[in-house]
Amino acid sequence: MAQRNLPFDTADLTARDRAHIIHPWIDLGTAKTQELLIAAQSEGAYFYDTDGRKMLDGMGGMWCVNIGHGREEMAEAIADQVRRMAYFSPFGMLSTPPAIEFAERVTAYAPGDLKHIFFTTGGSTAVDSALRFIQYYFNFTGRPTKKHIITRDYAYHGSTYLTASVSGKPGDRGFLDFETERVHHLPVPNTYRRPDGMSEAEFCDKCVGDLETKIIELGPENVACFIAEPLLASGGVIVPPQGYQRRTLEVCRKYDVLYISDEVVTGFGRLGEIFASEKVYGLQPDIITCAKGLTSGYIPLGAFLLSAKLYDRVTGEGAAGKFFSNGFTYSAHPVACAAGNKNLDIIEREDLCGHVRRIGPYFQQRFRELLDLPIVGDVRGSHLMLCVEFVQDKKTREPMPAEWNFAKRINAECMARGLLARPMGHLVVLSPPLILGKPQIDEAYVALRAASEAVLDGLLREGLWRGRAA
Ligand SMILES: Cc1ncc(COP(=O)(O)O)c(C=O)c1O
Repeated sequence: MAQRNLPFDTADLTARDRAHIIHPWIDLGTAKTQELLIAAQSEGAYFYDTDGRKMLDGMGGMWCVNIGHGREEMAEAIADQVRRMAYFSPFGMLSTPPAIEFAERVTAYAPGDLKHIFFTTGGSTAVDSALRFIQYYFNFTGRPTKKHIITRDYAYHGSTYLTASVSGKPGDRGFLDFETERVHHLPVPNTYRRPDGMSEAEFCDKCVGDLETKIIELGPENVACFIAEPLLASGGVIVPPQGYQRRTLEVCRKYDVLYISDEVVTGFGRLGEIFASEKVYGLQPDIITCAKGLTSGYIPLGAFLLSAKLYDRVTGEGAAGKFFSNGFTYSAHPVACAAGNKNLDIIEREDLCGHVRRIGPYFQQRFRELLDLPIVGDVRGSHLMLCVEFVQDKKTREPMPAEWNFAKRINAECMARGLLARPMGHLVVLSPPLILGKPQIDEAYVALRAASEAVLDGLLREGLWRGRAA
């Protein structure tokens, strides 16, 4: 593994981190003892930890470093804006040139009449604000019963009270409370786990039917919106059956239910388009939420895009003196917007969307080679989003049991081979920077294959996995 001499004392940093930082999603039972990976430097698709070990950033940060690490021109654009004006309030009728330019450029890519944008601080605040806007909209238009939100199991939409409530990963529901009266979860449209003997087309009918049945059960006059990621990212890169996105929109239109397409992960090139909703899935929603790739993670920023139809309604007749009382000190932060403008310059100049469309099939096809391993049940994804699902029995699709510590094992083996992937239980997710070339894809594949084989050997040695036939 490549190495660089760096002036850090990892043991000391680890002790100081453990003494103070409460990390998101950490296993609190091991928070005070677990080893840390402390990253110190990065460039392109790679980063270096404090011991100087070079690793391929298979997660692209957290699905966000789309243009890759260490872009000098991003550093300059950010520094220039800090010198010019580091902060200005976004509230009321106050604005800044970088925010105006960015709003214009982002909405130019949006489908249909999504020409208005509300800036936030990240993905959770984007989704939360979108849901609150819908609440405002139906109160304002005199339909205050339309409050119920339909979402899906295994969705992830954020970490505020409301966005966590519309998320649906079972593992995240242990010791927190959620809004349950007005939030309804549909079964996940996971083609890999569809009932035996059911075709993908039949499964699509069933999933679309789930939505229609739920709207009818609640009463369309009570349903505000359906919220959906085009592909369920954190739930395990779940690719719904073909046609699902467009058909669920048709159901929403039929019952006057609004549609939020959550593109926090899928936007800004990950699926080969700035927005995937329409170009990839033929879906023109009422609202698109985005964050992450919006600035490639260089500075936090989120947003929701809103249709002119909805915006004109709340700014038209009867609007005087009414406020959408929702916003953040750092909404439309000028430095974040300057980073966003430079991020778009890079994506456009280097045709990163085109690159993803060209390289995506190779990425998917290369990792599908893992399917010959007896513990790999599914390899799925699209473009530069991918999930490998490990199972103990390919026939029954039974996942690896939690007590086998699969995530921990595969993580250690991947890192020893210079790859940072994202193990989640029995799944391993990859969403690398969009600049990845074939050599790096091969490198990541070789590392994950060897890591999987090493874990398999360990499970066999310990008598846990009994070697069922592929
Ligand atoms: C689809 C989706 N929506 C919303 C969020 C929340 O974004 P953030 O972590 O920036 O608040 C995420 C985060 O992973 C996400 O994947």
